[in-house]
Amino acid sequence: MKNKKKVLSAIQPTGDIHLGNYLGAVQNWVKLQENYDCTFGVVDYHAMTAPYKPSQLRQNTWKMVFQLLACGVKPEHLFIQSLIPEHTELNWILSCVTSYGETSRMTQFKDKMEQLKDKNKEALISMGLFSYPVLQAADILIYKADLVPVGKDQEQHLELTRNIAARFNYQFGKDFFPLPEPLFTEVPKVKSLADPTKKMSKSLGEKHYINMFGDLDRIRKQVRSAVTDTGEKTESMSPGVENLFTLLKVSGDSSTYESLMNDYKQGQLKYSELKNAVSEGLIELITPIKERYEAILSDKKQYKSIIKEASAQIRKGARQTLKEVKELTGLLSP
Ligand code: TRP
Repeated sequence: MKNKKKVLSAIQPTGDIHLGNYLGAVQNWVKLQENYDCTFGVVDYHAMTAPYKPSQLRQNTWKMVFQLLACGVKPEHLFIQSLIPEHTELNWILSCVTSYGETSRMTQFKDKMEQLKDKNKEALISMGLFSYPVLQAADILIYKADLVPVGKDQEQHLELTRNIAARFNYQFGKDFFPLPEPLFTEVPKVKSLADPTKKMSKSLGEKHYINMFGDLDRIRKQVRSAVTDTGEKTESMSPGVENLFTLLKVSGDSSTYESLMNDYKQGQLKYSELKNAVSEGLIELITPIKERYEAILSDKKQYKSIIKEASAQIRKGARQTLKEVKELTGLLSP
């Protein structure tokens, strides 16, 4: 355990995991567990930065936990952020070594600000949304993580985390926080089936993403009506067909992939055949995960207590870091 590098990542509880989340992040987490000392969080404090209903948030938090377990994340690696309030205390301390200027430059925040058309937007944007990258830094630094698997959209937040860590170290104690590095891994880039020029995401709307925990018939329908091409003959593969091949590669067996790809090259590919193969592949990929999910749901109480216990164990590490931080920064510990 000691010489394994420490990996930390987290996901917001936003409802069901979709295929893009699974192939782009969760599946990777499951693999990383073999070679790294992993800690993964369901970050409910982060989910408060957008309007939400309290009962729904709690429900979504447990749902995300159960779905991550169904996907193969080990319970002992998983924590719920609000069970470890030290994250928010470190957030405050770190926010005092973070400049307003660097936080204002976060493009995700600027984009969200742009999208709001309201005249009153300055009043509608919470401090939480503005400073959430500092809480993200706290999530990472409280476990002194070495590596953070992130997508491109989180790269800038990780850069901020490194700056915060370096400034803290400079002001309060050399080399206290390791500077966490991004861990980029090859992940398939899954596009929306309805608009294959865009990344699969929930924010595009219902028809754009495949729900891993939804109805299998719905998946069949979605694949059947996936956009392929506009009918024009082009030199290169259209984004829609390329996306279907990507999905086939990650879910189907390689001989089906090879043979359909061969058909494509010969100009003999039938889209209906490709779609059937994709449907079948996806259903084969998803079915065991869905079955595990059902089993977990029928034993909810036990899984809740397992995750509470895991969070309590993980909290010990967070407590220790916070204690040292308070010592270094001149605060008192209770
Ligand atoms: N900000 C990340 C997202 O929106 C989620 C997140 C919160 C995270 N804390 C983190 C990711 C720590 C990696 C490490 O996707």
